[in-house]
Amino acid sequence: MVYLTAATKPDKMEQDEVESTLKSSANFPIGAAVNPDLLKRDSLYKLIVIKEFNSITTENALKWASVHPEPGKYNFSKADSIVAFAKRYGIRVHGHVLISVSEGSLPKWIKEYSGDSTKMEKIFKDHIQTVIKRYKGEIHSWDVVNETFDDKGLIRTKTQSNKNDNIWYKYLGKDYTARAFKYANEADPKALLFYNDNNQEKSERKLEAILNMIKCFKQEDIPIHGIGIQMHTDVYMSKPDFINAMVKVLKSNLHIHISELDIRINPKNEIGIDSIKRFKIQGELFRFISNFYKKDVPYNQQFGITFWNVTDKDSWINNKKGIKDNCLLFDYNYRKNQSYKAFIEGLTK
Ligand code: G3I
Repeated sequence: MVYLTAATKPDKMEQDEVESTLKSSANFPIGAAVNPDLLKRDSLYKLIVIKEFNSITTENALKWASVHPEPGKYNFSKADSIVAFAKRYGIRVHGHVLISVSEGSLPKWIKEYSGDSTKMEKIFKDHIQTVIKRYKGEIHSWDVVNETFDDKGLIRTKTQSNKNDNIWYKYLGKDYTARAFKYANEADPKALLFYNDNNQEKSERKLEAILNMIKCFKQEDIPIHGIGIQMHTDVYMSKPDFINAMVKVLKSNLHIHISELDIRINPKNEIGIDSIKRFKIQGELFRFISNFYKKDVPYNQQFGITFWNVTDKDSWINNKKGIKDNCLLFDYNYRKNQSYKAFIEGLTK
Protein backbone atom coordinates (compact mmCIF):
# COMPACT_ATOMS: atom_id res chain seq x y z
CA MET A 1 0.00 0.00 0.00
CA VAL A 2 1.52 3.33 -1.09
CA TYR A 3 0.71 6.15 1.32
CA LEU A 4 0.65 9.66 -0.16
CA THR A 5 2.86 11.91 2.00
CA ALA A 6 1.86 15.56 2.61
CA ALA A 7 4.30 16.58 -0.13
CA THR A 8 2.71 14.33 -2.75
CA LYS A 9 -0.90 14.44 -1.60
CA PRO A 10 -2.82 16.70 -4.02
CA ASP A 11 -4.57 19.59 -2.30
CA LYS A 12 -8.33 19.31 -1.69
CA MET A 13 -9.36 20.98 -4.97
CA GLU A 14 -6.82 19.03 -7.03
CA GLN A 15 -7.77 15.86 -5.22
CA ASP A 16 -11.42 16.51 -5.96
CA GLU A 17 -10.51 17.16 -9.57
CA VAL A 18 -8.36 14.03 -9.65
CA GLU A 19 -11.12 11.90 -8.15
CA SER A 20 -14.33 13.41 -9.50
CA THR A 21 -15.99 11.71 -12.46
CA LEU A 22 -19.42 12.28 -13.98
CA LYS A 23 -20.97 9.34 -12.13
CA SER A 24 -19.25 10.09 -8.81
CA SER A 25 -20.52 13.69 -8.94
CA ALA A 26 -24.23 12.79 -9.22
CA ASN A 27 -26.79 11.20 -6.90
CA PHE A 28 -28.53 9.72 -9.94
CA PRO A 29 -27.34 7.66 -12.93
CA ILE A 30 -25.21 9.32 -15.59
CA GLY A 31 -25.27 7.43 -18.87
CA ALA A 32 -24.17 7.32 -22.48
CA ALA A 33 -25.52 5.72 -25.63
CA VAL A 34 -22.89 3.20 -26.64
CA ASN A 35 -21.67 1.43 -29.75
CA PRO A 36 -20.73 -2.23 -29.10
CA ASP A 37 -18.07 -2.25 -31.83
CA LEU A 38 -16.26 0.67 -30.15
CA LEU A 39 -16.53 -1.03 -26.74
CA LYS A 40 -14.77 -3.98 -28.33
CA ARG A 41 -12.06 -2.29 -30.37
CA ASP A 42 -11.41 1.11 -28.81
CA SER A 43 -9.75 0.78 -25.39
CA LEU A 44 -9.84 4.52 -24.60
CA TYR A 45 -13.55 4.72 -25.48
CA LYS A 46 -14.17 1.68 -23.26
CA LEU A 47 -12.13 3.22 -20.41
CA ILE A 48 -14.14 6.44 -20.52
CA VAL A 49 -17.42 4.49 -20.40
CA ILE A 50 -16.25 2.40 -17.43
CA LYS A 51 -14.80 5.36 -15.53
CA GLU A 52 -17.44 8.02 -16.16
CA PHE A 53 -20.81 6.30 -16.55
CA ASN A 54 -22.99 3.98 -14.44
CA SER A 55 -25.71 3.61 -17.07
CA ILE A 56 -25.58 2.82 -20.76
CA THR A 57 -28.25 2.97 -23.45
CA THR A 58 -28.11 0.68 -26.47
CA GLU A 59 -27.85 3.24 -29.28
CA ASN A 60 -28.68 0.96 -32.25
CA ALA A 61 -28.06 -2.60 -31.06
CA LEU A 62 -31.67 -3.23 -29.99
CA LYS A 63 -33.34 -1.54 -32.93
CA TRP A 64 -35.25 -3.71 -35.43
CA ALA A 65 -32.59 -3.19 -38.13
CA SER A 66 -29.96 -4.73 -35.87
CA VAL A 67 -31.90 -7.27 -33.84
CA HIS A 68 -34.60 -8.44 -36.29
CA PRO A 69 -33.04 -8.04 -39.74
CA GLU A 70 -35.27 -10.58 -41.50
CA PRO A 71 -38.75 -12.02 -40.85
CA GLY A 72 -38.58 -14.37 -37.87
CA LYS A 73 -34.77 -14.07 -37.72
CA TYR A 74 -33.24 -12.41 -34.65
CA ASN A 75 -29.61 -11.41 -34.18
CA PHE A 76 -28.86 -10.49 -30.58
CA SER A 77 -25.06 -10.55 -30.84
CA LYS A 78 -24.50 -6.78 -30.57
CA ALA A 79 -27.01 -6.33 -27.77
CA ASP A 80 -25.66 -9.38 -25.93
CA SER A 81 -22.16 -7.90 -26.03
CA ILE A 82 -23.40 -4.64 -24.48
CA VAL A 83 -25.29 -6.50 -21.75
CA ALA A 84 -22.25 -8.68 -21.02
CA PHE A 85 -20.00 -5.59 -20.82
CA ALA A 86 -22.46 -3.86 -18.49
CA LYS A 87 -22.72 -6.92 -16.24
CA ARG A 88 -18.93 -7.14 -16.00
CA TYR A 89 -18.61 -3.51 -14.89
CA GLY A 90 -21.80 -3.19 -12.85
CA ILE A 91 -23.41 -0.71 -15.24
CA ARG A 92 -27.18 -0.30 -15.75
CA VAL A 93 -28.52 -0.97 -19.25
CA HIS A 94 -31.46 1.00 -20.62
CA GLY A 95 -32.99 -0.78 -23.63
CA HIS A 96 -33.48 1.48 -26.64
CA VAL A 97 -35.90 1.08 -28.54
CA LEU A 98 -38.64 -1.46 -29.17
CA ILE A 99 -40.77 0.60 -31.58
CA SER A 100 -39.44 3.56 -33.53
CA VAL A 101 -40.49 5.25 -36.72
CA SER A 102 -37.22 6.38 -38.30
CA GLU A 103 -36.02 4.71 -41.53
CA GLY A 104 -32.54 4.16 -40.10
CA SER A 105 -33.91 2.00 -37.30
CA LEU A 106 -36.02 -0.34 -39.43
CA PRO A 107 -35.03 -3.25 -41.67
CA LYS A 108 -36.05 -3.41 -45.33
CA TRP A 109 -38.64 -6.14 -44.75
CA ILE A 110 -40.56 -3.90 -42.35
CA LYS A 111 -40.20 -0.71 -44.38
CA GLU A 112 -41.53 -2.54 -47.44
CA TYR A 113 -44.15 -4.60 -45.59
CA SER A 114 -47.29 -5.14 -47.67
CA GLY A 115 -49.23 -7.82 -45.76
CA ASP A 116 -52.40 -7.30 -43.74
CA SER A 117 -52.83 -5.55 -40.40
CA THR A 118 -53.61 -8.73 -38.45
CA LYS A 119 -50.29 -10.25 -39.49
CA MET A 120 -48.46 -7.00 -38.73
CA GLU A 121 -50.02 -6.90 -35.24
CA LYS A 122 -48.59 -10.36 -34.59
CA ILE A 123 -45.16 -9.37 -35.94
CA PHE A 124 -45.27 -6.21 -33.76
CA LYS A 125 -46.31 -8.06 -30.58
CA ASP A 126 -43.93 -11.00 -31.10
CA HIS A 127 -40.98 -8.64 -31.64
CA ILE A 128 -41.63 -6.65 -28.49
CA GLN A 129 -42.13 -9.73 -26.35
CA THR A 130 -39.24 -11.76 -27.83
CA VAL A 131 -36.75 -8.93 -27.25
CA ILE A 132 -37.93 -8.05 -23.75
CA LYS A 133 -38.08 -11.67 -22.59
CA ARG A 134 -34.52 -12.32 -23.73
CA TYR A 135 -33.18 -9.66 -21.37
CA LYS A 136 -35.57 -10.20 -18.47
CA GLY A 137 -33.60 -9.60 -15.27
CA GLU A 138 -30.75 -7.91 -17.17
CA ILE A 139 -32.44 -4.90 -18.78
CA HIS A 140 -34.85 -3.36 -16.28
CA SER A 141 -36.01 -0.34 -18.31
CA TRP A 142 -37.00 0.20 -21.92
CA ASP A 143 -37.77 2.94 -24.38
CA VAL A 144 -40.88 1.13 -25.59
CA VAL A 145 -41.89 3.68 -28.22
CA ASN A 146 -39.98 6.59 -29.77
CA GLU A 147 -41.23 9.78 -31.34
CA THR A 148 -44.91 8.97 -32.00
CA PHE A 149 -45.75 12.67 -32.36
CA ASP A 150 -44.56 15.35 -34.77
CA ASP A 151 -43.77 18.87 -33.63
CA LYS A 152 -47.40 19.89 -34.23
CA GLY A 153 -48.48 17.33 -31.63
CA LEU A 154 -50.04 15.05 -34.26
CA ILE A 155 -49.39 11.32 -34.52
CA ARG A 156 -46.76 10.90 -37.24
CA THR A 157 -48.26 9.45 -40.40
CA LYS A 158 -44.85 9.76 -42.04
CA THR A 159 -41.28 9.08 -40.88
CA GLN A 160 -39.14 11.96 -39.60
CA SER A 161 -37.66 12.44 -43.08
CA ASN A 162 -41.19 12.53 -44.54
CA LYS A 163 -40.00 10.04 -47.18
CA ASN A 164 -42.00 7.02 -45.98
CA ASP A 165 -45.16 6.15 -44.12
CA ASN A 166 -45.12 5.57 -40.39
CA ILE A 167 -45.47 1.82 -40.89
CA TRP A 168 -46.90 1.26 -37.42
CA TYR A 169 -49.63 3.88 -37.85
CA LYS A 170 -50.38 2.66 -41.37
CA TYR A 171 -51.02 -0.96 -40.38
CA LEU A 172 -51.86 -0.76 -36.67
CA GLY A 173 -53.75 2.51 -36.34
CA LYS A 174 -53.41 5.45 -33.95
CA ASP A 175 -53.29 3.32 -30.76
CA TYR A 176 -50.16 1.34 -31.67
CA THR A 177 -48.22 3.16 -28.94
CA ALA A 178 -50.64 2.03 -26.22
CA ARG A 179 -50.57 -1.59 -27.42
CA ALA A 180 -46.76 -1.56 -27.49
CA PHE A 181 -46.75 -0.67 -23.80
CA LYS A 182 -49.35 -3.33 -23.01
CA TYR A 183 -47.35 -6.04 -24.84
CA ALA A 184 -44.12 -4.90 -23.18
CA ASN A 185 -45.66 -5.06 -19.70
CA GLU A 186 -47.03 -8.57 -20.38
CA ALA A 187 -43.50 -9.69 -21.33
CA ASP A 188 -41.82 -8.26 -18.22
CA PRO A 189 -44.18 -6.83 -15.57
CA LYS A 190 -41.18 -5.64 -13.54
CA ALA A 191 -39.57 -3.58 -16.30
CA LEU A 192 -39.85 0.22 -16.25
CA LEU A 193 -41.48 1.33 -19.51
CA PHE A 194 -40.63 4.72 -21.04
CA TYR A 195 -42.06 6.82 -23.80
CA ASN A 196 -39.12 8.67 -25.46
CA ASP A 197 -39.34 11.81 -27.59
CA ASN A 198 -37.54 15.00 -28.56
CA ASN A 199 -38.30 18.74 -28.74
CA GLN A 200 -40.67 18.74 -25.76
CA GLU A 201 -38.87 21.96 -24.77
CA LYS A 202 -39.38 23.50 -28.21
CA SER A 203 -42.96 22.49 -29.04
CA GLU A 204 -45.79 23.15 -26.59
CA ARG A 205 -48.19 21.20 -28.83
CA LYS A 206 -45.99 18.12 -28.86
CA LEU A 207 -45.53 18.34 -25.10
CA GLU A 208 -49.29 18.63 -24.58
CA ALA A 209 -49.90 15.65 -26.89
CA ILE A 210 -47.42 13.53 -24.92
CA LEU A 211 -48.86 14.56 -21.54
CA ASN A 212 -52.38 13.91 -22.79
CA MET A 213 -51.32 10.43 -23.98
CA ILE A 214 -49.84 9.72 -20.55
CA LYS A 215 -53.09 10.85 -18.92
CA CYS A 216 -55.09 8.53 -21.20
CA PHE A 217 -52.71 5.65 -20.44
CA LYS A 218 -53.29 6.13 -16.73
CA GLN A 219 -57.07 6.32 -17.18
CA GLU A 220 -57.02 3.12 -19.28
CA ASP A 221 -54.53 1.29 -17.02
CA ILE A 222 -51.94 1.14 -19.78
CA PRO A 223 -48.62 0.67 -17.91
CA ILE A 224 -46.14 3.54 -18.34
CA HIS A 225 -43.43 4.40 -15.82
CA GLY A 226 -41.21 7.03 -17.38
CA ILE A 227 -40.72 9.66 -20.01
CA GLY A 228 -37.58 10.32 -22.04
CA ILE A 229 -36.79 13.93 -22.79
CA GLN A 230 -34.14 13.49 -25.45
CA MET A 231 -32.64 17.02 -25.31
CA HIS A 232 -30.81 17.01 -28.62
CA THR A 233 -30.23 20.72 -28.31
CA ASP A 234 -27.77 23.49 -29.08
CA VAL A 235 -26.37 26.83 -27.93
CA TYR A 236 -29.62 28.55 -28.93
CA MET A 237 -31.57 26.53 -26.36
CA SER A 238 -34.09 28.53 -24.35
CA LYS A 239 -33.72 28.00 -20.59
CA PRO A 240 -37.28 29.24 -19.85
CA ASP A 241 -38.70 26.81 -22.45
CA PHE A 242 -36.71 23.97 -20.87
CA ILE A 243 -37.96 24.87 -17.39
CA ASN A 244 -41.55 25.17 -18.67
CA ALA A 245 -41.39 21.70 -20.25
CA MET A 246 -39.73 20.08 -17.25
CA VAL A 247 -42.21 21.58 -14.76
CA LYS A 248 -45.10 20.19 -16.82
CA VAL A 249 -43.48 16.78 -17.28
CA LEU A 250 -42.69 16.50 -13.57
CA LYS A 251 -46.42 16.74 -12.80
CA SER A 252 -46.87 13.35 -14.48
CA ASN A 253 -45.07 11.83 -11.49
CA LEU A 254 -43.24 9.52 -13.91
CA HIS A 255 -39.53 8.77 -13.90
CA ILE A 256 -37.83 11.56 -15.85
CA HIS A 257 -34.94 10.56 -18.11
CA ILE A 258 -32.98 13.22 -19.94
CA SER A 259 -32.30 10.48 -22.42
CA GLU A 260 -30.16 11.71 -25.35
CA LEU A 261 -28.38 14.89 -24.26
CA ASP A 262 -26.05 16.69 -26.62
CA ILE A 263 -25.58 20.45 -27.12
CA ARG A 264 -24.32 21.51 -30.54
CA ILE A 265 -22.21 24.68 -30.73
CA ASN A 266 -22.77 25.11 -34.47
CA PRO A 267 -26.23 23.76 -35.37
CA LYS A 268 -26.49 25.98 -38.45
CA ASN A 269 -23.07 24.86 -39.74
CA GLU A 270 -21.95 28.48 -40.01
CA ILE A 271 -18.44 29.35 -41.18
CA GLY A 272 -16.08 31.28 -38.90
CA ILE A 273 -18.04 31.09 -35.66
CA ASP A 274 -16.58 32.43 -32.40
CA SER A 275 -16.00 28.96 -30.93
CA ILE A 276 -14.62 30.31 -27.65
CA LYS A 277 -17.89 32.14 -27.07
CA ARG A 278 -19.94 29.14 -28.24
CA PHE A 279 -18.07 26.73 -25.93
CA LYS A 280 -18.74 29.12 -23.05
CA ILE A 281 -22.47 29.10 -23.82
CA GLN A 282 -22.43 25.31 -24.18
CA GLY A 283 -20.75 24.91 -20.79
CA GLU A 284 -23.27 27.20 -19.15
CA LEU A 285 -26.15 25.19 -20.63
CA PHE A 286 -24.66 21.86 -19.48
CA ARG A 287 -24.22 23.36 -16.01
CA PHE A 288 -27.79 24.69 -16.06
CA ILE A 289 -29.29 21.35 -17.12
CA SER A 290 -27.36 19.25 -14.58
CA ASN A 291 -28.10 21.74 -11.80
CA PHE A 292 -31.82 21.93 -12.63
CA TYR A 293 -32.07 18.14 -12.74
CA LYS A 294 -30.27 17.80 -9.41
CA LYS A 295 -32.26 20.56 -7.65
CA ASP A 296 -35.70 20.48 -9.26
CA VAL A 297 -36.35 16.85 -10.16
CA PRO A 298 -37.51 14.99 -7.05
CA TYR A 299 -35.25 12.10 -6.10
CA ASN A 300 -37.93 9.46 -6.79
CA GLN A 301 -38.27 10.80 -10.35
CA GLN A 302 -34.54 11.03 -11.11
CA PHE A 303 -34.02 8.21 -13.62
CA GLY A 304 -30.87 9.93 -14.80
CA ILE A 305 -29.14 11.97 -17.48
CA THR A 306 -27.83 10.11 -20.53
CA PHE A 307 -25.59 11.60 -23.20
CA TRP A 308 -26.15 10.50 -26.75
CA ASN A 309 -22.81 8.92 -27.51
CA VAL A 310 -19.54 9.33 -25.61
CA THR A 311 -17.24 11.72 -27.49
CA ASP A 312 -17.56 14.23 -30.33
CA LYS A 313 -15.81 11.68 -32.51
CA ASP A 314 -18.51 9.01 -32.21
CA SER A 315 -21.44 11.43 -31.94
CA TRP A 316 -24.28 10.63 -34.34
CA ILE A 317 -24.28 14.31 -35.29
CA ASN A 318 -20.81 14.07 -36.80
CA ASN A 319 -21.71 10.93 -38.75
CA LYS A 320 -23.59 13.20 -41.13
CA LYS A 321 -21.72 14.24 -44.26
CA GLY A 322 -19.88 17.53 -43.90
CA ILE A 323 -20.73 18.09 -40.25
CA LYS A 324 -18.06 18.52 -37.59
CA ASP A 325 -19.62 19.88 -34.44
CA ASN A 326 -18.78 19.74 -30.72
CA CYS A 327 -21.71 18.56 -28.66
CA LEU A 328 -20.53 16.31 -25.80
CA LEU A 329 -18.17 16.46 -22.81
CA PHE A 330 -15.29 14.63 -24.52
CA ASP A 331 -13.74 16.06 -27.70
CA TYR A 332 -12.54 14.36 -30.90
CA ASN A 333 -9.36 13.29 -29.11
CA TYR A 334 -11.35 11.86 -26.19
CA ARG A 335 -10.18 14.68 -23.90
CA LYS A 336 -12.52 16.27 -21.38
CA ASN A 337 -13.55 19.66 -22.72
CA GLN A 338 -14.49 22.69 -20.61
CA SER A 339 -18.15 21.60 -20.55
CA TYR A 340 -17.13 18.49 -18.59
CA LYS A 341 -16.17 20.68 -15.63
CA ALA A 342 -19.26 22.86 -16.06
CA PHE A 343 -21.59 19.82 -16.05
CA ILE A 344 -19.96 18.56 -12.84
CA GLU A 345 -20.21 22.03 -11.26
CA GLY A 346 -23.94 21.93 -11.96
CA LEU A 347 -24.12 18.63 -10.10
CA THR A 348 -22.01 19.65 -7.12
CA LYS A 349 -22.48 23.37 -6.52
O1 G3I B 1 -25.67 -0.96 -39.77
C1 G3I B 1 -25.80 -0.38 -41.08
C2 G3I B 1 -24.63 -0.78 -41.95
O2 G3I B 1 -24.68 -2.20 -42.18
C3 G3I B 1 -24.71 -0.03 -43.29
O3 G3I B 1 -23.58 -0.34 -44.06
C4 G3I B 1 -24.73 1.48 -42.97
C5 G3I B 1 -24.80 2.33 -44.23
O4 G3I B 1 -26.10 2.26 -44.75
O5 G3I B 1 -25.90 1.79 -42.17
C6 G3I B 1 -25.81 1.14 -40.91
O6 G3I B 1 -26.97 1.46 -40.17
C7 G3I B 1 -26.96 2.79 -39.67
C8 G3I B 1 -27.12 2.71 -38.13
O7 G3I B 1 -27.23 4.03 -37.57
C9 G3I B 1 -25.95 1.99 -37.48
O8 G3I B 1 -24.78 2.71 -37.69
C10 G3I B 1 -28.15 3.54 -40.26
O9 G3I B 1 -27.93 3.72 -41.65
C11 G3I B 1 -28.28 4.90 -39.59
O10 G3I B 1 -29.48 5.55 -40.03
C12 G3I B 1 -28.40 4.70 -38.07
O11 G3I B 1 -28.46 5.99 -37.49
C13 G3I B 1 -28.90 5.99 -36.12
C14 G3I B 1 -30.27 6.69 -36.07
O12 G3I B 1 -30.71 6.82 -34.71
C15 G3I B 1 -31.34 5.90 -36.83
O13 G3I B 1 -31.53 4.66 -36.19
C16 G3I B 1 -27.89 6.76 -35.28
O14 G3I B 1 -26.65 6.05 -35.22
C17 G3I B 1 -28.43 6.94 -33.87
O15 G3I B 1 -27.55 7.75 -33.09
C18 G3I B 1 -29.79 7.64 -33.93
O16 G3I B 1 -30.29 7.74 -32.65
C19 G3I B 1 -31.59 8.37 -32.57
C20 G3I B 1 -32.36 7.67 -31.47
O17 G3I B 1 -32.49 6.29 -31.79
C21 G3I B 1 -33.73 8.32 -31.29
N1 G3I B 1 -33.59 9.76 -31.02
C22 G3I B 1 -32.83 10.47 -32.05
C23 G3I B 1 -31.44 9.86 -32.18
C24 G3I B 1 -30.60 10.63 -33.19
O18 G3I B 1 -31.19 10.53 -34.47
